[in-house]
Amino acid sequence: MTTSHHHQSVMFDESIDALNLTTDGIYIDATFGRGGHSQGILARLGDQAQLIAFDQDISAIEYAKKSFNDPRLTLIHSPFAQMHTVISEMGLSGKIDGILMDLGVSSPQLDNADRGFSFMAEGPLDMRMNQTAGLSAAQWLAQAGEEEIANVIYQFGDEKKSRHIASRIKKFQLEQPLETTLQLANIVSEVVRGQKKKHPATRTFQAIRIFINQELKQLSDTLEHSKEILSHQGRLSIISFHSIEDRIVKRFIQKNSRQKSLPKGLPIFDQAIQKMPFKDLGKQFASKDEVGHNKRSRSAILRVAEKN
Ligand SMILES: C[S@@+](CC[C@H](N)C(=O)[O-])C[C@H]1O[C@@H](n2cnc3c(N)ncnc32)[C@H](O)[C@@H]1O
Repeated sequence: MTTSHHHQSVMFDESIDALNLTTDGIYIDATFGRGGHSQGILARLGDQAQLIAFDQDISAIEYAKKSFNDPRLTLIHSPFAQMHTVISEMGLSGKIDGILMDLGVSSPQLDNADRGFSFMAEGPLDMRMNQTAGLSAAQWLAQAGEEEIANVIYQFGDEKKSRHIASRIKKFQLEQPLETTLQLANIVSEVVRGQKKKHPATRTFQAIRIFINQELKQLSDTLEHSKEILSHQGRLSIISFHSIEDRIVKRFIQKNSRQKSLPKGLPIFDQAIQKMPFKDLGKQFASKDEVGHNKRSRSAILRVAEKN
């Protein structure tokens, strides 16, 4: 088993700058990971500021407890979709000045074979970020039907061979239980061939991980809740790593920032009532320099919005 604690934060300065920090503000890091962004935020805040950090992976929270000793930091072991409840219990609804989300998995999660996220190293087929809840990937694959598996792989992985892969999985399970990462990677590699840069199992692993962790629902619920959590001029700074995720962020911001076209001839004071919840502050990609030294940043898209 390999255990690594290193995670190189992506779009570090850009995502923190996007929060437009005020020295005594209250901020949320929704995805603590190994705390790279949290550390950067804390370094720029004053003594009276607060940072509330979430992670649903207990190993991230344990790492934080050992490595961060800062009275301004509150650690919450919870999926970020519960943020509105936690923040409301703290009496902070409508008082949060910025939320940072750096989505997906961390390097320690990927690198530790026993977490089951990697198709490169043998480990139990788990893939849960929160190992205290829900089904592991192996448990789900054992109980799901062929069609359900195919739909997940297609929907969350954009994998054209989804039906073929699902059928192979079910055939394999007639012979023996499907329990490890390399068993699944080998099944997929027999069906998906000829990709130069990407491992054949990349899309299948991504799809199953998204499904097992309900990543898209977590994201869209949290975006909705941010409307009540954020203060006036509070910022959303969100880094996503694949198009399905980015589409959700993009559509949310567009829907909540674009003025609906009103019937012509309405008096000007009626038009003023149509105040939208957010202002769209645009998107950015990682710099060439960053892409050069951190491969993960290649696919990163940062989107920023400000609460009206
Ligand atoms: C890409 S890493 C964040 C890295 C972090 N920004 C840093 O600089 O170290 C994503 C982290 O978010 C956590 N995470 C992902 N989805 C989550 C969710 N729905 N709720 C809470 N934590 C989540 C993962 O467990 C992982 O530790």
